[in-house]
Amino acid sequence: MQAALLLFTLIASTLSTKAQTPAADPYLGIIPAPASVKKASGTFTFSGQTLIKTDKPKDKTILFLKSFLKDNRHLNNKISKYNHKAKPATGLVLTSVGADKLPAEGYKLTITPKKITIIGKGAGLFYGLQTLIQLFPVEAGASSKLPCVTIEDAPRFGYRGMMLDVSRHFFTVEQVKQVIDVLAAYKLNTFHWHLVDGQGWRIQIKKYPKLTDVGGFRLQTMYGNNRDWPDSLSYGGFYTQDQIRDVVKFAADRYINVVPEIEMPAHSDAALRAYPELRCEPADPNNPPRSINGLYCPTEETFNFLQNVLTEVMDLFPSKYIHIGGDEANKQPWKESAFVQSLMKEKGLKDEKEVQSYFIQRMEKFINSKGRSIIGWDEILEGGLAPNATVMSWTGEDGGIAAARQHHNVIMTPQTTGNYFDHYQSGSPQEPVSFGRYAVLKETYDYDPVSKQLAQDERKYVIGTQGNLWTEYVPTMAKLQYQIFPRLFALSEVAWSKPENKNYDNFANVRLAGHFDKLESMGYNYRVPTPSAVIDTIVFGPKFTYTPSSVVPGARIYYTLNGRDPLDTDWEYTSPVTITIPAGEKREFKARVITPTGRRSIATRVLMYNRPLIPATVYTNGKKGLKYKMVKGRFTSPDQLDYVALTDSATTDKLNAEPLKKDNPYFGVVYDGYIDIPTDGAYNFSQASYTDTQLFIDGEKITETEYMLPLAEGLHKIKVKYIYQAPVQTPGSRVRQTPLHIYMIEPGDANKGEIEATSLVY
Ligand code: ACM
Repeated sequence: MQAALLLFTLIASTLSTKAQTPAADPYLGIIPAPASVKKASGTFTFSGQTLIKTDKPKDKTILFLKSFLKDNRHLNNKISKYNHKAKPATGLVLTSVGADKLPAEGYKLTITPKKITIIGKGAGLFYGLQTLIQLFPVEAGASSKLPCVTIEDAPRFGYRGMMLDVSRHFFTVEQVKQVIDVLAAYKLNTFHWHLVDGQGWRIQIKKYPKLTDVGGFRLQTMYGNNRDWPDSLSYGGFYTQDQIRDVVKFAADRYINVVPEIEMPAHSDAALRAYPELRCEPADPNNPPRSINGLYCPTEETFNFLQNVLTEVMDLFPSKYIHIGGDEANKQPWKESAFVQSLMKEKGLKDEKEVQSYFIQRMEKFINSKGRSIIGWDEILEGGLAPNATVMSWTGEDGGIAAARQHHNVIMTPQTTGNYFDHYQSGSPQEPVSFGRYAVLKETYDYDPVSKQLAQDERKYVIGTQGNLWTEYVPTMAKLQYQIFPRLFALSEVAWSKPENKNYDNFANVRLAGHFDKLESMGYNYRVPTPSAVIDTIVFGPKFTYTPSSVVPGARIYYTLNGRDPLDTDWEYTSPVTITIPAGEKREFKARVITPTGRRSIATRVLMYNRPLIPATVYTNGKKGLKYKMVKGRFTSPDQLDYVALTDSATTDKLNAEPLKKDNPYFGVVYDGYIDIPTDGAYNFSQASYTDTQLFIDGEKITETEYMLPLAEGLHKIKVKYIYQAPVQTPGSRVRQTPLHIYMIEPGDANKGEIEATSLVY
């Protein structure tokens, strides 16, 4: 009991984040963390009188500086030509003189009380300016005090990107430019523009006007995915070639290369709606393929079409890289096509994967003949990699590792490491609807694109990393901003900073402050960090003290003790809150952050329960496993199993209903026995489903909100009720049957695992 209580108190104390003082920040708030920062004493006062001298006053970095001063600070400083022989003693100097020895894209920024000097060439000078801009206070005044410092900096990776999908939901030129502007401010240098997918073709192709006339619009906004109902409205949009040129120039002015992606052979429904003749004819026209993942047929007509499309694309985009997709090709239409089957015989292709490889290699040959290179998603490894392809590893890290081992360049953007910005940002049901799994900020931040599995000489093939924003669940700009901030800040540090300069605590609790302040001032949306890192927890003990905090400048924290999600009419947190819980009772502490512009974090919840450990049962003669009883029948709730006669009775060595499914399309089952608890402490239980499964420990039902029990070492009664109906296979059916999975986290452990067979006794 004593040991357990001590542990619970420790959990409670980690619920607060300790705010650090920005003054002590070794990185002066800069994101991404520079390679070297040497702070000095004093400040430089920047005002409208500060003279600016530079090698080429018309250079794009200088034009960027001019618009920053005008739009952001309301200043119009004099800019004149720099003569490095007549060294000016004061003002701001931007020059490439002395940049010869700097690494690619590197810069040196020196601020003394009298003078600011940025040395860099091309992109390097631009990044030096971005660092200087970050040192300006967010609020514009007549003059700004900048801290004296020497910063020497250069990127870790040459490819630093973000992908935006404009097919699932369309974003206007102005909105796309807003994203590009942010990438530049955080020293990313690649905008991967996912212009084509099943839901819409977004780039004007003059030779094929139906691509945008037909393929650019669909009936009904995506529903289900964003909890709207089908609305029968036309949804869509596309960019004219003039607009594309405008965006490409806007990006180039910020040292950002735009990589266009034209998806093939799959994700091509939009193109195939416009030009259905590019589909494969089914072998049996009365039984067309059911696949919805539109797939081009590898005919000469298709290759001719795609070459014509890519010719116009390459005229618009100067990028060395042209992305041709290659992911998630459901090859069923090829299996069902007489044409493809005879093509396979003719070309000696042994399966449909080799047909994909043949497809990609033909397109690569064409793109290479124009002096460009292809990037493809990692499925282009299947059936043999095209000779010069760069692989974008998304399904995980394996594709990237395999490609690097074949000495192909690789861009790491795994969906498993926090690089997918369409994923949820926490496990809380309060998060806005998003895709699939969740990745917390720290996961994005901690990712190292260079896998330790790669040998030293293979590591150079990892040329960089990127974040991907797919937009099935991103219908608005506010949602787009919510999905990318603050994850984009973490990505920028992964892509730019040396691993030894990364420090999550400093990033999340100190440096993010200034960047959130800036987002607030620009009116941008973002995910407001919760007032404690742990969003939902249960603790046991008589007394707890909370010190929630927020890194967002000027934010307030509100809390409740009545179980409601806090509003700005509730208690405002100003000093540590201590809560005493009478024996046998529970209290709930909920807190949330509300920022100066009214943006709210999701609410965090701590359930505090003052109850003793539940004693173990004395039971000898136990055998390994559980008893179970089952009954055939269709059930809609495990509660119904209390009212029917359970007949078939047997034992099992583990909690696994799969064997029962073989002979029974529908049934209910109740398992009974004991679970062996290894040590005194608080145990966290969870289930794959709370509608098909019920779990009772010592007669107490585990729920989604009350999922922890204080258990003494030894045997405790366990009962599990589970119902099953085989999924009904009708088109559009959303009924999913969840498997029987029960998880347990032991005290002091962070990882959940399924209850192990060795702990079960009957
Ligand atoms: C992908 O996420 N399908 C590349």
